[in-house]
Amino acid sequence: MTEAADQTKLLKQLVGQAAAERVQSNTVLGLGTGSTTAFAIATIGERLRSGSLTNVRGIPTSFQASVLAKQHGIPLITLDDVDSIDLAIDGADEVDPQLNLIKGGGAAHTREKVVDALAKEFIVVVDQSKLVDRLGSTFALPVEVLPMAVAPVTRALIALGGKPDLRMGIRKDGPVITDQGNMVLDVTFENLSDPAELEKTINNIPGVLENGLFIGLATIVLVGEIKDGQPVVRQIP
Ligand code: 5RP
Repeated sequence: MTEAADQTKLLKQLVGQAAAERVQSNTVLGLGTGSTTAFAIATIGERLRSGSLTNVRGIPTSFQASVLAKQHGIPLITLDDVDSIDLAIDGADEVDPQLNLIKGGGAAHTREKVVDALAKEFIVVVDQSKLVDRLGSTFALPVEVLPMAVAPVTRALIALGGKPDLRMGIRKDGPVITDQGNMVLDVTFENLSDPAELEKTINNIPGVLENGLFIGLATIVLVGEIKDGQPVVRQIP
């Protein structure tokens, strides 16, 4: 691993742990997906084992989150079992100054949005590389699509000014298949000027399950960053 990759991993670990320290006993948790949230899930498990946390139940946002939660001893439930979620912890691929997000780097944004949107409090955990002035400037927008609708949805996204790319597997020939059995188009927009409007417009295309724009959902963002040469966690706002 390079020095930069080591530093990013350390920042993700710090910020994931910081979020896990905010979890309270007797709560229902939304468990996000990705490498940063994985550190939060591990720390929640440690806190359960040490007794500093009791009676939490998790709702996983992906197969990955479910496997990790089981590994770390976090009891799991589904949305059928509860009326609300107290706290969701999840990562992001981009965070803008209004705390709007692009998510879906792990192709889990459809379930993530269901869970994160239901949470009374949604803590986003990121390293400093995820902060952007404008959404879409560093990361293409993931759109989950029914396999039979990939061609018409691709045309509709091009008509909206996007450049869609079917996400391909790594160490798997062919496209990435989501936990729900669908495909993902990663869409580059030259000028994503109205994310709130674009979120609704894309979701209105027949065959689209969900896109990775998370508008007005985050309560706070915890950012792992280097300040005066030291790794620290900063809260926004
Ligand atoms: C998965 C996501 C992840 O939360 C996002 O990709 C961030 O991942 P990481 O913490 O590994 O950087 O949206 O669909």
